[in-house]
Amino acid sequence: MCGIIGIASNKPVSINIINSLKKLEYRGYDSAGLATLTDDNINEKKCSGRVEELEKILFKTPSKGNIGIGHVRWATHGVPNIVNAHPHSSDEVSVVHNGIIENSDEIKRELKSKGLKFKSQTDTEVITLLITEALKENEPLKSVYKTLKKLKGSFALGIIFKDFSNIIIGARRGSPLAVGYSKEENYIGSDSYALKSMTNKISYLDDGELCVLTKDQVSFYDESLKKVNKKIHTMSENESSIDKGEYKHFMQKEIYEQPITIKNCISEYVDSLKKNINIINFPIEPNNINKIVLVGCGTAYNSCLTAKYWFEELTTIDVEIDIASEFRYRKLKFNSKNLYIFVSQSGETADTAAALDLCKKNNVKTCSIVNVIESTIARNSDWVLPIHAGTEIGVASTKAFVGQLTVLYILCLKLAIVRKDINDKTYEKNINNLKKLPEAIKECISNENKIQLMAKEFLSAKGSMFLGRGSSFPIALEGALKLKELSYLHAEGYPAGEMKHGPLALIEEGLPVIILAPKDKYFEKTISNMQEVIARGGKILFITDNKKESINENIRFGFRVPHLDNLLSPILLTLPLQMLAYHVAVLKNCDVDKPRNLAKSVTVE
Ligand code: F6R
Repeated sequence: MCGIIGIASNKPVSINIINSLKKLEYRGYDSAGLATLTDDNINEKKCSGRVEELEKILFKTPSKGNIGIGHVRWATHGVPNIVNAHPHSSDEVSVVHNGIIENSDEIKRELKSKGLKFKSQTDTEVITLLITEALKENEPLKSVYKTLKKLKGSFALGIIFKDFSNIIIGARRGSPLAVGYSKEENYIGSDSYALKSMTNKISYLDDGELCVLTKDQVSFYDESLKKVNKKIHTMSENESSIDKGEYKHFMQKEIYEQPITIKNCISEYVDSLKKNINIINFPIEPNNINKIVLVGCGTAYNSCLTAKYWFEELTTIDVEIDIASEFRYRKLKFNSKNLYIFVSQSGETADTAAALDLCKKNNVKTCSIVNVIESTIARNSDWVLPIHAGTEIGVASTKAFVGQLTVLYILCLKLAIVRKDINDKTYEKNINNLKKLPEAIKECISNENKIQLMAKEFLSAKGSMFLGRGSSFPIALEGALKLKELSYLHAEGYPAGEMKHGPLALIEEGLPVIILAPKDKYFEKTISNMQEVIARGGKILFITDNKKESINENIRFGFRVPHLDNLLSPILLTLPLQMLAYHVAVLKNCDVDKPRNLAKSVTVE
């Protein structure tokens, strides 16, 4: 949700700001802007739409200045237009902001009553005006500090000052902010990825902290403005190199990376020779775990829902799952014997982070399953299980979802064997199957051309349905989520057995209905549900791992995934659905990596 960058240098910064904003665009792409300091003036340039528009403006009228801040916006307060684009500047200061100021209306009223005028509809402008007022009596750091005291909500800020032309101030409450260091240049950025082309030396602000950057040094301050020291993390080569390579879109690349990322994930957790799962230091002794509570949003929630079926099948532990935005407001009975697990690709999702905080306040043990290990959720939880998927840039999660499933499955197996809920033979069989997963994923992806044909069926469709039973049900939800977010086509995911209770009314001649029917205990029942859809004119796209089931004339298209075992089928069924959503979006000329109205990291509630 919005990306910010700041560079303090001994040379002009606008080109590097633009390059970093391009990397941050996955966080928001409604509008873009930058401000640099030139000859004691704040020089602001903004556009609605993408960073490339801003680049064109700069090409015509270049911006000078060795100090600058930049922003890509995901609109919260005010429509996405030039006026609401960041930075928001007065004559004295310029501010970029990621997050939400919850009491902005109240502050606005107060400032208006003093005769101050607002140009935009944003919540950010209150920060600009509060700092401008404070600067009349204070130096910059004190002015920012005093302003922050008046703000409610979550934010990361980058601020430059007309009369203090060598500094940038950064601040963090809730939303992430990284600091980068290099020779004669220092940086702030919403994430380390934005800084990668300029440095591999990174620190992270903790909640409540501020930083003051010049080109030569960075100072950090805590909530009470006491100086603090920071660890500097050196990013590895791997972490530093990300591009689309031979692929048309990051999403396509990320789909194709899955055999490798899942192989990496498995080898991080499973001993290659002895079949041991090296998950240690459980925050609660496995035999004493009373219940597992799994929490996430969107795709991450779908991985929790899938895992519920595994925990129920393989362990004797009770499982509860919830959507983070619901969990955080429930009247829960916390229990110190429950293990609360938070699943998140970014590790920055505001609702998931708040749900985790709620658990911490109630003194229960927390675990996070994340992709970004330096993220807020990872840092705030008692125990972290990384998914090792590598940076995911496409807004629609693919390799991170399959990574989350893999880690959840491994965790489930570990708990099951430690608690003796399964015997050694079952454990070994499951581990052997797990090791075959990367190759099976590869096989699914190699049939992409069949999915391309299937995708054409969606071009004239008014909507679509995804149906599955058991652990295929959450995958139906995930398939529908992917299709709607990428191609803006209405899609519903349903448990196939639930159709008669209402949704069957939606089936009409030619409506695409995707049936997920692995050869499990539900197979025959799913086929019956499919017949009911066929009888009402639905156009069937049938996905199975059943070698025997012949694809008959009532089925418009069929796709076979390899069969490893029933437990792993949800992972393999995911692959064709990812490719389907991708190809429908490509055929419909949608912006695959940056679907409208969305952003990769949802740092607002
Ligand atoms: C959908 C998608 C989102 C995210 C959700 C949670 O493709 O990516 O639904 O899964 O916003 O994000 P994380 O996993 O970063 O907490």
